[in-house]
Amino acid sequence: MTKFVERVFSGVQPTGNLHLGNYLGAIQRFVEMQNKYNCIYCVVDEHAITVWQDPKGLQNAIREVTAAFIASGIDPKAHIVFNQSQVAEHAELAWVFNCVARMGWLNRMTQFKEKAGKDKEAASVGLFAYPALMAADILVYRATHVPVGEDQKQHLELSRDIATKFNNDFAESIAAHGFEDGFFPLPEPLIQGAATRVMSLRDGTKKMSKSDPSDLSRINMTDDADTIASKIRKARTDPEPLPSEEEGLKGRAEADNLVAIFSALSGRMVADILGEFGGGQFSTFKTALADLTVAKLSPITTEMKRLMADPAHIDAVLADGSARARTIAAPIMNSVKDIVGFIRAK
Ligand code: TRP
Repeated sequence: MTKFVERVFSGVQPTGNLHLGNYLGAIQRFVEMQNKYNCIYCVVDEHAITVWQDPKGLQNAIREVTAAFIASGIDPKAHIVFNQSQVAEHAELAWVFNCVARMGWLNRMTQFKEKAGKDKEAASVGLFAYPALMAADILVYRATHVPVGEDQKQHLELSRDIATKFNNDFAESIAAHGFEDGFFPLPEPLIQGAATRVMSLRDGTKKMSKSDPSDLSRINMTDDADTIASKIRKARTDPEPLPSEEEGLKGRAEADNLVAIFSALSGRMVADILGEFGGGQFSTFKTALADLTVAKLSPITTEMKRLMADPAHIDAVLADGSARARTIAAPIMNSVKDIVGFIRAK
């Protein structure tokens, strides 16, 4: 098997209102990966337009995700931060992958079914082909590790299927072009951490979501300290005190969620947290959680605001990241063209 250089790739869609779920489920873990891997973090604006986006709103959202990355501690100089549409190779490889992936595979994607809803005929072709573009995002860098939430696992499996089929379909040509045993790696999902699924503060069985009509259901990355504290105080709970053992969180979705958030923000084990707060009043725990959340998010929020006040600087970061991304993607895309049998100027 060809040895692939270890490389992390992940993406976040710029579709407005980043919240605690995006932070704990994705961004915080992107930050941690930096010590171990070379990382490429992408604002996936081409994925965003699979459903219609207001152009001004899209620009703002691209800058906001970029600001959140940087404010959270992603180093855009040591690693790469950029927006997808500035690197044409993503869309180019996605086309090849559209021709590798099978209709049947994409038909099985649960996210498409959810997003398209009842009227599948009205969904964009892009929404259907979305996972092929996601595979291209990862594989155009031959990335090996992908930190994603639970909900993206199926898409990542599809990326592996596409990589496998490409490697098989073109095996002879791949070998003829000097690559041993396959051109693309099979990217591994990195799904770990306490709160990969942050739930709504109003209903512990629903994911925290930017589209929930109740703003009390989520903590936005733009909320100020008072708003954060008040939302946590108002978070739904059951009348029982917190249990002292993890077992006792079973069937108590709201309590479970708040403890998971505490754990993810503090890096402490659930057992340790319950050791401290178990048996006590819920209000004591909520006050501690509010303090913790504010302490952790406020510096990020403040830095995001500062960065957002200088859009030209953010755009320069994206331009620089895109140029560096292109230097990795371009030779890989050239090899793909050679392998497939396209003719290009040499
Ligand atoms: N589909 C991902 C999401 O909605 C975003 C994404 C696009 C992505 N391309 C990616 C994530 C590549 C990981 C790797 O969250």
